[in-house]
Amino acid sequence: VNKGNGVKGLSETGIKALPDQYIQPFEERLINKFVNETDEAIPVIDMSDPNENKVAEAICDAAEKWGFFQVINHGVPLDVLDNVKAATHRFFNLPVEEKSRFTKENSLTTNVRFGTSFSPRAEKALEWKDYLSLFFVNEALEYMNKSKTMVRKLLEYLGKNLNVKELDETKESLFMGSIRVNLNYYPICPNPDLTVGVGRHSDVSSLTILLQDQIGGLHVRSLSSGNWVHVPPVPGSFVINIGDAMQILSNGRYKSVEHRVLANGSNNRISVPIFVNPKPESVIGPLPEVIANGEEPIYKDVVYSDYVRYFFKKAHDGKKTVDFAK
Ligand code: SIN
Ligand code: FE2
Repeated sequence: VNKGNGVKGLSETGIKALPDQYIQPFEERLINKFVNETDEAIPVIDMSDPNENKVAEAICDAAEKWGFFQVINHGVPLDVLDNVKAATHRFFNLPVEEKSRFTKENSLTTNVRFGTSFSPRAEKALEWKDYLSLFFVNEALEYMNKSKTMVRKLLEYLGKNLNVKELDETKESLFMGSIRVNLNYYPICPNPDLTVGVGRHSDVSSLTILLQDQIGGLHVRSLSSGNWVHVPPVPGSFVINIGDAMQILSNGRYKSVEHRVLANGSNNRISVPIFVNPKPESVIGPLPEVIANGEEPIYKDVVYSDYVRYFFKKAHDGKKTVDFAK
């Protein structure tokens, strides 16, 4: 029905009911009124605090207790964030003929891919989301480049706490050897309570840097209570989360946490994640620095590209990917 024009195209036909293939099984649906009943909140960390040790400590603490935090005053110019958000709207507003040049069938390069849902062939029910996944688009490149200093700083703080003395070449290729940006578009959904924007999953990255707009809808599973906690949009902030690769490298000290996104009945939403990943050919396992003090490694070594391939072969299924490294 929506060949090449994604769920945005479907939404814009004015359909009044959600097509059957998007109806999630009851237990996977994200019903707004059931998810906001907690006063827990993920930490918001001011990176411009002159006490750098305090900043580093807050970040490592959040990485252990939440796997998620927001950063403000992170040093990435705000106009770079505005530009990439505007570019996201521009892309998804292109006519279908333009966007479909980048579908899996048509794209001339694996570096640019326009798609819908997550892994349609593996999913019993589809997700209400379109995306453009890319390495090279001007605004996205600028966004990636201008975020690098912040990314290095975050990784240095997290690494020091694991006894990693410096981000040398080897560590850099392990923590941030390959970087990718996605532009996500969640159009208005006729029956948001029957489906999901993104189903429960954890990221396979080492770190994910997420820019979201003012609409909201991202929820994170609290490690202490099991509650789903909303990540409220904070203007000018990034949402940072630990991915599976970092959980494995840190031997479970930093947590890659389940999260999900509601569909929305009245607003379109965009988000722009940067996935900071190990180099595809890296072998990842608990870092020698971490197990030097006699800690038992709880993960085995895996080739990162095998890990990622396993993730993309399945529908979103919570935290099950990490078992691949057990
Ligand atoms: C995701 O985690 O896949 C998307 C997060 C978001 O759009 O807020
Ligand atoms: Fe995610």
